[in-house]
Amino acid sequence: MQCIDCGEKFTEQPICRCKKCNGLLEIKFKLSAGDFDLKEARKRKFNLWRYADLIPAKKNVSLNEGGTPLYECKNLSDELKVKLFVKNEGANPTGSFKDRGMTVGVSKAIEFEKKITTCASTGNTSASLAAYSARANLKCAVIIPSGKIAYGKLAQALIFGAKVISIVGNFDKALEIVFKISNKEGIYLLNSINPYRLEGQKTLGFEIFDELNHTPDRVILPVGNAGNISAIWKGFKEFYELGIANEKPKMTGIQAEKAMPIVNMFKNKGDFVPEKNPETIATAIRIGNPVSWKKAINAVYESNGYMESVNDEEILKAQKLLARKEGIFVEPASASSIAGLIKLIDEGNIDEGEEIVCITTGNGLKDPNTVVDECKNEIIYAKEEEIENLIKNL
Ligand code: F0G
Repeated sequence: MQCIDCGEKFTEQPICRCKKCNGLLEIKFKLSAGDFDLKEARKRKFNLWRYADLIPAKKNVSLNEGGTPLYECKNLSDELKVKLFVKNEGANPTGSFKDRGMTVGVSKAIEFEKKITTCASTGNTSASLAAYSARANLKCAVIIPSGKIAYGKLAQALIFGAKVISIVGNFDKALEIVFKISNKEGIYLLNSINPYRLEGQKTLGFEIFDELNHTPDRVILPVGNAGNISAIWKGFKEFYELGIANEKPKMTGIQAEKAMPIVNMFKNKGDFVPEKNPETIATAIRIGNPVSWKKAINAVYESNGYMESVNDEEILKAQKLLARKEGIFVEPASASSIAGLIKLIDEGNIDEGEEIVCITTGNGLKDPNTVVDECKNEIIYAKEEEIENLIKNL
């Protein structure tokens, strides 16, 4: 493990921050061409553990995560004049990309003989950690912002038997609290500041290359606490270092308009300034002080990528569009990648014909309330004798 700021290396485990300067840590491998044989790997089942040789953990707990579909979106491609694919992470065992991080992170918790796992969460992390901890026979406590987590996610954390602790305050406050308590003996922190989580999530980059058999021009995804964009970039970089890929994609992050500190930093070319009161209907990315902002901005700069924001209206419109044009139902945060794509095209920041992969990070069923609120006026209340006519005239 190496600090991304001061370069200090660490071998003792487990740690989540640099002991010298408190910087973010990253797991570094010495990789060179030929170290990983993708052809051989392809003989294995298509899931995250196909890439086990590049994951610094033994598979101690798994729910068969990864191997999610990459959909070619013909209808939207025609409409938007790009070549669009959607990598649907909602198809993971608990319905979000977090499962990639948790199979690795909770496997490490077992290796380190931890008894309790914990995280702060806007919902999906808690659902995933709760599931993997249950399967691993570990106790789990999750800290969530009161009233600001989607119902499906809350239901998951509860049914998987996690201790659900609801606080007054937002995700950023919950994360502050969890940092303090997770210093204690026996408790393992599984937010994305934990570098092992990112080692699982980097397989998203591997899989996109694996499925396309080349690197797309651009990858667009929602950014919240900023772990995923950093992880995926690491995956693409590793395939490049291994001589498997000849190119790297432009990493393009999307934040919600009232929770966009990294977009502000990118556009103003200034310092990172946290947003004190983040707000958005996309509760998964309702985050003002993303812990991995530095890794994320590095990914965007190094890849010649972009950061853009979208508002709630654009998010809800994109959610509907993706569902109605392609049959893919994603939660609001995930739809921000599609909303961002549309905005970037409108602004002239994406070239006609670009090959783009939008990552839809979480399943639409996580947050049914938002959809029903949005679409309830479309329900037709009818008498039996009216129904035939209604259907004929669709
Ligand atoms: N999309 C969804 C559906 C998420 O749940 C999250 C993060 C993100 C995108 C952003 O990913 O944080 O790696 O930049 N959810 C976290 C949680 C914060 O607690 O579930 P990120």
